[in-house]
Amino acid sequence: MSKKFANVKTNLPGPKAKEILDRRHNIVPGGVSYGVPTFVDTAKGALLKDVDGNQFIDFAGAIGVNNVGHSHDNVVSALQDQAEKYIHTGFNVMMYDPYIEFAEKLAELAPGSFDKKVMFLNSGAEANENAIKVARKYTERQAVVSFTGGFHGRTLMTMSMTAKVKPYKFEYGPFAPEVYHAPFPYNYRRPESMSEDAYADYLLKQVEDFFITEVDPSQVAAFIMEPVQGESGFIIPNKKFVQGVYELCKQHGILFIADEIQTGFGRTGKYFAMEHFGVEPDLVTVSKSMAAGLPISGVIGRQEVMDGTGAGELGGTYCGSPLGCRAGLAVLEVMEEENLNGRGAAIGQKVMEKFSTMYDRFDAIGDYRGLGAMCALEFVKDRSSKEPDKEMAPQVLKEARERGLIALKAGVYDNVVRLLMPLVITDEQLEEGLDILEEAIEAATASVKV
Ligand SMILES: Cc1ncc(COP(=O)(O)O)c(C=O)c1O
Repeated sequence: MSKKFANVKTNLPGPKAKEILDRRHNIVPGGVSYGVPTFVDTAKGALLKDVDGNQFIDFAGAIGVNNVGHSHDNVVSALQDQAEKYIHTGFNVMMYDPYIEFAEKLAELAPGSFDKKVMFLNSGAEANENAIKVARKYTERQAVVSFTGGFHGRTLMTMSMTAKVKPYKFEYGPFAPEVYHAPFPYNYRRPESMSEDAYADYLLKQVEDFFITEVDPSQVAAFIMEPVQGESGFIIPNKKFVQGVYELCKQHGILFIADEIQTGFGRTGKYFAMEHFGVEPDLVTVSKSMAAGLPISGVIGRQEVMDGTGAGELGGTYCGSPLGCRAGLAVLEVMEEENLNGRGAAIGQKVMEKFSTMYDRFDAIGDYRGLGAMCALEFVKDRSSKEPDKEMAPQVLKEARERGLIALKAGVYDNVVRLLMPLVITDEQLEEGLDILEEAIEAATASVKV
């Protein structure tokens, strides 16, 4: 296969990367992991160049951060302009208009035909922490329910809400109290005798029973749900299930929080993935692609819920930094001008077509799924038993990066390869990346079997 964009000339790590990697191992703890054993020199659009001059097609986007691509011209000039004016005044000290303008725009775009208010934080975990604070204050209730397979961050509260033990929670207890986990549909692994519809009904009944066996609904402040579970391998719930949980929330005065940190900003072909499910969350948390790599996050919520908090109860030194807000405003402009929602849907269609041919070729692929451009392959040892194949995903990723493609692992069973390419990727780059992925699966199939 002739390659136009991917160009890996050295073994990874190359000589320059190797020298930095040795220093990295000396100074950075192992708990901070890495996927690609090299260091970036420059990045633009969907391409990354490392310090040894190797070029990669990026199907990872810094874990879903770069929907508008690396260093988009509009984002760069917004940042340059902002840095010249002022870098940080602290929104709790001297306020600035970009915060207000970004908040106004997000409130307009977020699902929900009600008045909203918006606050900004620094990271995804911090947004989720604050959504819970706001929900508890408003409802005067303590319990919080997240879902099996959910990932919400690495701070104490969000680690407690996260429902995968290793590597996120193991030996890091005790966890925050009053956090409960309800079942979430994993359609590929549902009992064979059940239709998707019957499975949704069955799980909804379990959630109702959960109110008997685990926590009384009158004590629950909020449910928090990823519209498509990210770290767990792009698990897409049925609409019926999402709507059923939403209805249960309404029935019991429980707030519904949508964690759109990985799914937002065009990834699923819409600004917010919850738009696919026809529910209007009381609170939405956002981060990652909202600002093209600047560390900013937000909580967008029903006005009366957000207004339940008193002065000084929310905020933080760097929350909603001017640079983050300006980058975010530039992202929204780019999304509109370049129709990135439409692009997300189109990329998803192309990827799923390719996945379908890969599925026909490789028995190791047990399932392929996607919503918009949030697409994943799940590897199994055997299609009928669906036994997860943990060795394949890392091997595929290794073969891919040696050929110049960067993608990511995911999955409750660590057996999923997920794609989060920038939505500005060109068709040619996308096709080349998908061809490399196919070659990588072929090579991994041979090496894992040997
Ligand atoms: C759905 C979801 N929620 C929360 C987070 C946590 O975000 P952060 O790593 O910025 O704290 C992530 C990060 O991957 C995520 O995917």
